[in-house]
Order: sequence, then structure tokens, then C-alpha cells
Amino acid sequence: MALFIRTEADQLSSVFNIKVMIEVRHLKLIDTIAKVGSLKKAAEKLFLTQSALSHQLKELEAQLETQVFYRINNQLHFTPAGKEFRDAGADILNQLKKLENSVQQINQDQLRDYVHGYSEEETKRLNDQAKTVSDLLHWDSIWEDGSLILEAGCGVGAQTKIICSSNPASNFIAVDLSEKSLSQANEMVKENDIKNVEFKQADVFDLPFDDACFDHVFICFLLEHLKSPEVALKEFKRVLKKGGTITVIEGDHGSTYFYPESKAARKAIEAQISLQKMNGGNTNIGRQLYPILNDAGFKDIKVSPRQVYVDDSKPEMIEGFIKNTFTAMIRGVTEEALSKKVISSQEMEDGIQDLYKTAEGGGTFCYTFFKANAILE
Ligand SMILES: C[S@@+](CC[C@H](N)C(=O)[O-])C[C@H]1O[C@@H](n2cnc3c(N)ncnc32)[C@H](O)[C@@H]1O
Repeated sequence: MALFIRTEADQLSSVFNIKVMIEVRHLKLIDTIAKVGSLKKAAEKLFLTQSALSHQLKELEAQLETQVFYRINNQLHFTPAGKEFRDAGADILNQLKKLENSVQQINQDQLRDYVHGYSEEETKRLNDQAKTVSDLLHWDSIWEDGSLILEAGCGVGAQTKIICSSNPASNFIAVDLSEKSLSQANEMVKENDIKNVEFKQADVFDLPFDDACFDHVFICFLLEHLKSPEVALKEFKRVLKKGGTITVIEGDHGSTYFYPESKAARKAIEAQISLQKMNGGNTNIGRQLYPILNDAGFKDIKVSPRQVYVDDSKPEMIEGFIKNTFTAMIRGVTEEALSKKVISSQEMEDGIQDLYKTAEGGGTFCYTFFKANAILE
């Protein structure tokens, strides 16, 4: 645990007149010795050499300006001050464990609420999607050389690959909640010899960055999953420099229309819309980008709808968009949709079959993404 306790104001200060910082490792050291009864066993438990452990102990006693142990016949016995330190320290360690568990629980809940999940199929879908609509969404994803850009909610790095390659003279920091996605993203950049990005596990509601440290922020398909996008936008404003820009790309499932028309396909799409709503998200957020950015205080907002239109003349879009992006997305939520009873198994199957029909001869498919750009004044 990489936590430091500033002791002057905490409960230990009532016992010791501490002018220096005690670290969690000192608390763990005393706690472990108290539990296992000897320096040798404590060293084994903490994966330290005995001399490293003795050194830490001396360091602690020097900091406390008092002895924690009497050493009698090679045995350690807590002094009265040592007992106080041991008991108060154990309380603090318990509190830290509780804190760690509750933070991890929040993270787990957010990961569970993410409607698409983190399966291999979803990794493939994100990569297919990014590749298929790359020109449409990214012809203008260009920032001035030397920029430092935050990509928030980078997932497996499907968009990262595109924007890092087209901005080789800028640097990117890409964050996501999911460790699993980030390790896939790391593999991807190694395979593609991309050197201008660093990945970091982080929650966009609490970014581990200083104020005003990024020139630009880039987000793709993230706001649609958040319970409170306005709070995340506040955090993006905090880390953006004045004069910096935010670029947001989101979908809008309400913009889907296709031929042949099908009630079953509509029902399956509705199931995905409801699921995401139940998890706090909004699949139709694309059309709201202007008001959302405006309410967040961004200026000079420009939104451009980017429509995907597919017919028989675009076989690569039939494969890449209708089948591998859109229908794969609806198919991907089947299990959750059935478990939450938003649709029956037969209805879901019929809907997916009918979506595939739009990819057969004579079918057509339309979907609109929205890309917004705005400035922080
Ligand atoms: C639909 S994916 C998009 C990934 C990537 N931007 C792309 O377009 O391929 C959404 C990503 O947002 C991440 N995410 C959701 N909530 C988040 C949060 N609070 N903080 C950071 N990442 C989050 C998810 O883990 C997921 O990887």
C-alpha cells in the first residue's frame, strides 16, 4: 500500500511527540512482529532480510525518540510506549484496509456497470469499429506538434493506435478503469512500435494529474457510459490548460435506421438502450454533446455529425460496420439483457437475425456518430 500517514494530526501524536513522518511500512513492521513474536519470523513474513528489518526498527525508534522494545536475552518485549504504538498502529492498519476495500469495491462496481464488458469479442469489436470508421472520425484528429494529450477511457487502445500514429510529434497519456484493457493496449503499442503514449489505470472522476497539465483532452465512446458526465467534464477542465481543447466522439443509437425495416431488430436495439440506461449510461448522448459541453462551461463548441451509410457498394463497411461493429455490439449484450429480463431470448435472436439481413444483398444501414470540439477559455 503506497499510503503515507502524516502523523502530527493523527491519533499517534497523542502518544508520541512525533515531528517526522511515519510510514505505513513502520506500522506493518510492528504489527507483524507483534503477531509472529520474533524478528526472524517477521522478516520472513515481510520478505525482508533480518538486517533490513532491524534497520527499519532502529529508524522507527530514532524517529519516535523512544524505544519500542526492550531487548532481554535476545527476546523482544514491548515497552509501554511500544504497546501504545502497536495498538494505535493496528487500528490505523485496519482503517487503511477498510479504505482500500471500499475504493476497490467502487472500482469493481464501475467495471461491472460497464455494459459491453471486457471479453475477447468486445476487444475485437472495439478494434473493428475503430478501423472501420477511422477516416470518418479521425481525419481531423490532429493536434499541434509537441502537445501533451490525455485520452480518457482508452479501453484496449483501438483509438489510441490511430491518434498516436497520426500525431507522432505529440505525446499521449491514455487512461482507463480496466487494468485488463490497459495491458492489452500496452501489448498493442509494443506490436505496432508506437512510442508516444503511456497508459495509466485511472478513474476519470478522480484523475491522478495536476491542475492544468494537459494541452488537449480526447474522449471516444466514454461519456455514454458515465452516470454523471458533467462531473467527469469538470475533472477534464481541471487538468486542461487554459486555451486547451476537448474533443469528444460519441454514438447515438437513436440515429440508427436500416432497410429492410424490422420490429424485432428495433426491439433488440431497444434492449441495449435500456440496459445502458439501467447502468446509468445514455446511448443517445451524441445529440446532446453541444448542451452538455456548453453547460460544463466550454466555449467555441463545434459539433459535427458523422454519418455512416452502408449499402451493397461498400462490402468492407458491410463486414466492418453492420456485422462486426453494430450487430456485434447488440449481440454482445445478449447475456445481460436476458438476465435482466429486458427482452426474451427468442426476441433477441430474431432481432439479431434481422440486423444481419440489412447486410445481405439489397439491405442498407445508417448510423450517426457525433464529434465535438471545444475550448477551455
Ligand atoms: C466503449 S469503451 C471505448 C474505448 C475506446 N475509447 C474506444 O473507442 O475503443 C469505454 C471505455 O471506458 C472505460 N471507462 C468507463 N468508465 C470509466 C471511468 N470512470 N474512468 C475511466 N475509464 C472508464 C471502460 O473501461 C471502457 O474501456
